[in-house]
Amino acid sequence: MDEYGEDPYEPDIVSPRAQPTEAGAEAGVRPAKLDELIGQSRVREQLELLLSGAKGRDAAPDHILLSGPPGLGKTTLAMIVSAELGVALRQTSGPAIERSGDLAAVLTSLGPGDVLFIDEIHRIARPAEELLYTAMEDFRVDVMVGKGPGATAIPLDLEPFTLVGATTRSGLLTGPLRDRFGFVGQLDFYDTPDLEAIVHRTARILAVEITADGAAEIAGRSRGTPRIANRLLRRVRDFAQVRADGVIDRDIAHRALALYDVDRIGLDRLDRAVLSALVESFGGGPVGLTTLAVAVGEQPDTVEEVCEPYLVRAGLLARTPRGRVATVHGWRHLGRTPPASSAAGVARAALFDTETLDDDQG
Ligand SMILES: Nc1ncnc2c1ncn2[C@@H]1O[C@H](COP(=O)(O)OP(=O)(O)OP(=O)(O)O)[C@@H](O)[C@H]1O
Ligand SMILES: [Mg+2]
Repeated sequence: MDEYGEDPYEPDIVSPRAQPTEAGAEAGVRPAKLDELIGQSRVREQLELLLSGAKGRDAAPDHILLSGPPGLGKTTLAMIVSAELGVALRQTSGPAIERSGDLAAVLTSLGPGDVLFIDEIHRIARPAEELLYTAMEDFRVDVMVGKGPGATAIPLDLEPFTLVGATTRSGLLTGPLRDRFGFVGQLDFYDTPDLEAIVHRTARILAVEITADGAAEIAGRSRGTPRIANRLLRRVRDFAQVRADGVIDRDIAHRALALYDVDRIGLDRLDRAVLSALVESFGGGPVGLTTLAVAVGEQPDTVEEVCEPYLVRAGLLARTPRGRVATVHGWRHLGRTPPASSAAGVARAALFDTETLDDDQG
């Protein structure tokens, strides 16, 4: 297991990850400074204070943990932190750090004050996580040389740095790791006016003409998520340019989004598949996550991290201690009448019970 010092360190785990298919498209659209960021006013204000305080003292700010469902701006915020501080950003991700030696190599190469961004930090391997403890706390790593009784730990001092960790599942973080972050920013789904503003901003950057009700139509179907708003905007732009005069209004947005299978409240094919499986195949539940995921041919993680947060937020699905259930709303959204008792009743009860569950839905 312990592989410190065994192989030459591989610096290639530091790569500009970010969703490869959208990487190019996202580059110009991503807000670069805090004041370009729309919404999340609470986290923004908290970060503003944290960063100004640190800048005033000419010190690296505390380590920052950002949590929330995909596409809400965690990576964007990490980039903003380094930009606001005027320091370099090194990026890696939990799954990419297979050996603690990999992490030690990245840590020792950081310049003074640099920001190290670890995406999906809940998936970091345990030995690497332990290395991170002393790195975060004392800016030091102990590199093991040799094996067995002759092995020695060589302490290496690090430059002071700021770790920015991102996670879609803060509930999976271990206590010791979570405790070492001085600031935890919880990102929440965006409301429609914020999403409208984001659509207008992106349209300006892409030089597309859009009407207010065109933007409202896209915003309302974006599942509270800026990444989805931007993606839908690009699809609607295609439609407007190919099938119309290039201007996005309500009618164009409506027709384009129907073509792309985005429904009235923004559920896509997979969201609907999950909800239908729950209602049609399992009588509304309760059913276990894994069973549900198999029914739609997806990984449990994907269902749990990508689909469920919004289905829960929209009040269509509830997570109960006994499994997933469709709510009355969920049944109705599919045009079905919920059964008088059974699952829908459980779901209603569960709506008041979800706080007892383990994860990060807050
Ligand atoms: N507050 C915001 N204002 C404007 N645009 C935003 C905002 N937040 C995010 N975006 C846009 O949404 C896109 C997705 O954001 P980002 O990549 O930061 O999400 P993420 O939380 O890191 O997602 P993941 O968990 O999948 O890594 C970005 O390209 C950015 O353009
Ligand atoms: Mg990201």
